[in-house]
Amino acid sequence: MSVDVVLGIQWGDEGKGKIVDILSPHYDIVCRFQGGPNAGHTIIFDGKKHILHTIPSGIFHENILNIIGNGVVIDPVTFINEINELISINLNPQNNLYISSSAHLILPIHRVLDFVYEKQKGDNSIGSTLRGIGPTYTDKVARRGLTIGFSLRDDFDKLYKELNDFHINYLDYSGIDINEIKIEGFSYREYEAKWLEALALMKKFTIINTEYILHKALKENKKILAEGAQGSLLDIDHGTYPFVTSSNTTIGGACTGLGIPHSSINKVYGVTKAYCTRVGNGPFPSELFNDISTELQKRGNEVGSTTGRPRRCGWLDLSLLKYAIDINGITDLVLMKVDVLDTFDKIYVAEHTNANNPYDSNDIKLIELPGWQEDTSTINNYNDLPNNLKKFIDFLEKFTSVPISMISIGPSREQILKKINI
Ligand code: GDP
Ligand code: IMO
Ligand code: MG
Repeated sequence: MSVDVVLGIQWGDEGKGKIVDILSPHYDIVCRFQGGPNAGHTIIFDGKKHILHTIPSGIFHENILNIIGNGVVIDPVTFINEINELISINLNPQNNLYISSSAHLILPIHRVLDFVYEKQKGDNSIGSTLRGIGPTYTDKVARRGLTIGFSLRDDFDKLYKELNDFHINYLDYSGIDINEIKIEGFSYREYEAKWLEALALMKKFTIINTEYILHKALKENKKILAEGAQGSLLDIDHGTYPFVTSSNTTIGGACTGLGIPHSSINKVYGVTKAYCTRVGNGPFPSELFNDISTELQKRGNEVGSTTGRPRRCGWLDLSLLKYAIDINGITDLVLMKVDVLDTFDKIYVAEHTNANNPYDSNDIKLIELPGWQEDTSTINNYNDLPNNLKKFIDFLEKFTSVPISMISIGPSREQILKKINI
């Protein structure tokens, strides 16, 4: 039992990157298992901000092996940009980063398709990050996708052309000229040239059967941390379908996206903000449209790390919190961004209980709790937290029957309070 998993249990951007970075020194290997550059995981230390999209958040610790698992989809351009940023801070990720040969490639055409499909949906668009995630997973499931392993084969150029032509023919058929498509800051032909260059650089990394590496590590009792992307409520099966991403962001995704048995999983950390946010479209039962949402947005700096879009804000949704806990078997909660609530005299949590539709907001009710109105961002010890905040934490623990093991009081690595020894 030596794999622990960190999962976002809302609509993403809960602060997974920060928590993985903090936990990493306790592990030998840190892995991403699903999603791709739709993710933006922020890590702040020494006054500098780093945003990772594809590379696991253990990469800042040079003695830890980082693995991009088979369930991830990779755009070589984003990948190489991230690598260059890491090199600029004197890291050498070539030494401690392995890529699964079964991870799928996001092709330039996938980004175009993402854009076209979203446009065709009109008012019902998902609000995708337009990074090509959906079309890449579609090709994977349709059994015509290209893995990173394929890029090492002699016939890769032919495979690339075949898949590209397949999609260009579809676009032609729909009357869309690939060269005419206007996507802000994106020209297909320019991107393709960059993409091919980046792929050549990416091929210099260790591309390997990562399942084998992980099985060996498990046998040697090494400790592995799996880092989720997005959040449970964006899961393709359990989220607010169709306003979801195209992968399993929940616990099952860790097994299929790494090739590890469920019996190897020990702790499952559920990362949640002390309130709720969502970027993109779709149901959000506890969403607010008033001064409070503006205040949460401002104090929480709720702007998407990948797209820069403002995030929608609302109170913490207890019913959805429980739903996500049950789906994932969460063993520990991590409560993020409590400092954002510091100024409120009253805070609220939402409850609604339609067992047939967890996202139904018809019977929503708000429970009022007293605020603490004290700056928590510089507190060093759990015991020094304001009493009303401790009561809030107790309330959540009782409601969910899950311990809250860490409380985050600011964006930096050191702004974390451990309630129990980790
Ligand atoms: P992830 O995708 O789950 O890794 O989360 P993101 O990085 O997209 O979004 C989390 C945002 O909240 C980032 O801007 C973090 O720097 C910031 N953040 C993380 N923890 C805290 C916290 O406890 N308080 C505040 N104020 N900001 C935080
Ligand atoms: P991290 O890992 C927040 C949202 C998009 C959109 C929907 C589908 O940083 O928490 P996609 O690009 O996957 O087709 O978009 O999912 N979304 C995220 N929202 N955080 C993310 O990742 C997200 N990744 C995708 O906004 O609503
Ligand atoms: Mg994010």
